[in-house]
Amino acid sequence: MMSYDSIRSFAERVTSELDKVDIAIMNAGVAFATYATSIYGWERTLQVNTISTTLLALLLLPKLRASSSTDHKSTLEFISSGLHSLVKWTDEEKAAKQPLDLFNQKQTFSPNKQYASSKLFFMCALSHIAKLAEAPGTNEPEVYVTSVCPGLTQSNLARDALRWWLMPLFWIAGFLFMRTAEQGARTYVSGATLEHRGHGQFWQHDKIKPYVRGYYIAATCIDISQYCPIVEWRGGTTAVGKGVV
Ligand SMILES: NC(=O)c1ccc[n+]([C@@H]2O[C@H](COP(=O)([O-])OP(=O)(O)OC[C@H]3O[C@@H](n4cnc5c(N)ncnc54)[C@H](OP(=O)(O)O)[C@@H]3O)[C@@H](O)[C@H]2O)c1
Repeated sequence: MMSYDSIRSFAERVTSELDKVDIAIMNAGVAFATYATSIYGWERTLQVNTISTTLLALLLLPKLRASSSTDHKSTLEFISSGLHSLVKWTDEEKAAKQPLDLFNQKQTFSPNKQYASSKLFFMCALSHIAKLAEAPGTNEPEVYVTSVCPGLTQSNLARDALRWWLMPLFWIAGFLFMRTAEQGARTYVSGATLEHRGHGQFWQHDKIKPYVRGYYIAATCIDISQYCPIVEWRGGTTAVGKGVV
C-alpha cells in the first residue's frame, strides 16, 4: 500500500486471475508514531489509510461490479475507525480548503490525531465510492459499499508506538478492555452481510452510525481521486460524487 505499482499489479491480478470476487475487505491500516513520507510525498498514515485504500478500492470496483448478478451483489467493505468521528480539528483545520495538504505537513503531525483524521478523510471518500458503485442515474447499488469499525481490538496496530517498557501495561489494558482479534473480526463479518442497509454507511457496535460531522464539511468536499495519479475520477468533485472510474 506504499507503492502504486504494487497496488495496480495486485488489482490486475485479482481482475485477471479470479473468476469473481464476492467480498473485498480493505483492511490494511497503519498508525505511525513518527512523521515520515512515502515516495510520493504523502505522510505514511495518509498514504496507506486514505489515499492508497481509495485507489485500491477504485481499481477493484469494476471487478466487483462484474461479479455481481441479479441474485447476488458483491460487497466492498472498508475497515474504518470510530475515532474518525471523535477527532477534534482546530478552526484553521476546519476552514482549510485543502485539509489533506494541511495534514501532510510535518509541523502539524500528531500521531493519534493523524490516525483519526486519516480515517475521517477516508470516510469522505466513502460516499463518493458508494455513489460510483450504483447503477448510473439511480440510487440502486450494483456493489454494496460499506465501512465498519471493529472497536478497540488487540492487534499490532500500535507496534510503531509501543516501547518495551510499555508492553506489560499494554498487555494488561488489552486483556481488560480490548476485544480479541476474533471478536473484532466478527464486525467484519456482520458488516459484510448488511447489503442495502449498509450501503454508504458506517457500522459499529452492531449499529449503523452517523459519520462525518457537519463542521467537517470542508473535508467532505475532497475529491481524493485528485491525489490518486493512476485512476481518473471523471465527472465530479461534489460531496456525493458523480464520477465514473
Ligand atoms: N485494533 C484496533 O483497535 C482498531 C480499531 C479500529 C479500526 N482498526 C482498523 O483495523 C484495520 C486492521 O488493523 P489491526 O488493528 O488488525 O492492526 P494490525 O494488526 O497492525 O494489522 C494491520 C494490517 O495492515 C497491513 N498493512 C499495514 N501497512 C501495510 C502496507 N503498507 N501495505 C500492505 N499492508 C499493510 C498489515 O500487514 P502486515 O502485517 O503484513 O504488515 C496488517 O495486515 C486497520 O485498518 C485499522 O485502522 C483497528
